[in-house]
Amino acid sequence: MESKTVDIKAGGGYTVHIGSGILDACGEAVASVIKPCRAAVVTDSNVEGLYLERTMESLRGAGFDPISFVFPAGEGSKNMRVLSEILESFADNELTRSDVAIALGGGVTGDITGFAAGVYMRGIKYVQIPTTLLAAVDSSVGGKTAVDLAAGKNLAGVFLQPSAVICDTGTLSTLAPEVFADGAAESIKYGVLTDEDIFKIFECGDVRSSITDVIYRCVTIKGRLVEEDEHDNGARRLLNLGHTIGHAIENLSEYTFPHGHAVAVGMVMIARAGELMGITEAGTSERLARVLSKNGLPTSTGYSAEELYTAALSDKKRSGDSITLVMPEKIGSCRLMTVSLPEFSDIVELAVNG
Ligand SMILES: NC(=O)c1ccc[n+]([C@@H]2O[C@H](COP(=O)([O-])OP(=O)(O)OC[C@H]3O[C@@H](n4cnc5c(N)ncnc54)[C@H](O)[C@@H]3O)[C@@H](O)[C@H]2O)c1
Ligand SMILES: [Zn+2]
Repeated sequence: MESKTVDIKAGGGYTVHIGSGILDACGEAVASVIKPCRAAVVTDSNVEGLYLERTMESLRGAGFDPISFVFPAGEGSKNMRVLSEILESFADNELTRSDVAIALGGGVTGDITGFAAGVYMRGIKYVQIPTTLLAAVDSSVGGKTAVDLAAGKNLAGVFLQPSAVICDTGTLSTLAPEVFADGAAESIKYGVLTDEDIFKIFECGDVRSSITDVIYRCVTIKGRLVEEDEHDNGARRLLNLGHTIGHAIENLSEYTFPHGHAVAVGMVMIARAGELMGITEAGTSERLARVLSKNGLPTSTGYSAEELYTAALSDKKRSGDSITLVMPEKIGSCRLMTVSLPEFSDIVELAVNG
């Protein structure tokens, strides 16, 4: 079993292991950073039947005493009620401060398990075992944890870096195509941000056979940004490329439009506006749209500029009278740009109506 590793110098420092089949050695990987103890594996109802037993088996083999908690799959479970059930289950199973939580699943599992680990007994260690491409390239690294509130997505959470991330690329083979596509959108985003080679893999390469390399490159980029800006006040905001308009689309669709799909449209739109403003190299939005379509992603929606602008402004994470956008300069290079609200309105108008 070959694996690639990326070391992240944030929190206590941790290693991301990426490779095919490494789930069966997850116990050893956890044991290399946490001495055998009780391990609470949290997973969802889809991943349970696919990968829970292999995970428990490997943990047992490495001397851990694993227990499991399964919640119904889907974003609808990323809330305070399920968080509370996870915490009660940790307590019922007598987890102590020296035990560990393990998130086995996609971004929903990672976010809620990380949050539970951050608040149970004022904080215990946790490990991420991402099983979606989105979780592998994005949510499992960086220490943002969250649940949704009635008022909006990801409004409650803590920053807590994991102790290890174990990404078995073999688990991605069972993903539904649209779930894989969501992760492809976020991976293509890293290509646009800083690494044209990632972009080219999605443009003309064999994505499935290059997936270890894709994840390695994406995690390396995210890791460097997180190291520079752990709490998301500076350079880390580059990761929001396509997300301002993307969040507006998700919001307008009442979250029926999947996140990666919305980010795909958001990236094309901001690149189009950037071209018209003379910031983005001509032809970028078209090249981006071609790659996204090839990978099963949309590149436009029927929402008007007015609807998108209003929805983007209601974003709870916006600060004051300005908004910071991520503007592509060309494939492989982007910059942060803070604009006033009237300027933002003009940009959305350009993005939609040219
Ligand atoms: N913390 C962060 O930095 C961060 C970053 C990006 C996104 N997120 C969060 O991530 C979440 C989205 O993540 P997601 O797209 O992974 O969603 P998800 O966890 O709901 O997974 C998507 C679907 O795939 C299923 N699934 C997972 N692994 C599978 C596998 N290997 N085979 C078959 N089915 C599998 C799940 O059961 C679910 O139905 C959102 O809540 C978002 O807010 C967090
Ligand atoms: Zn995203």
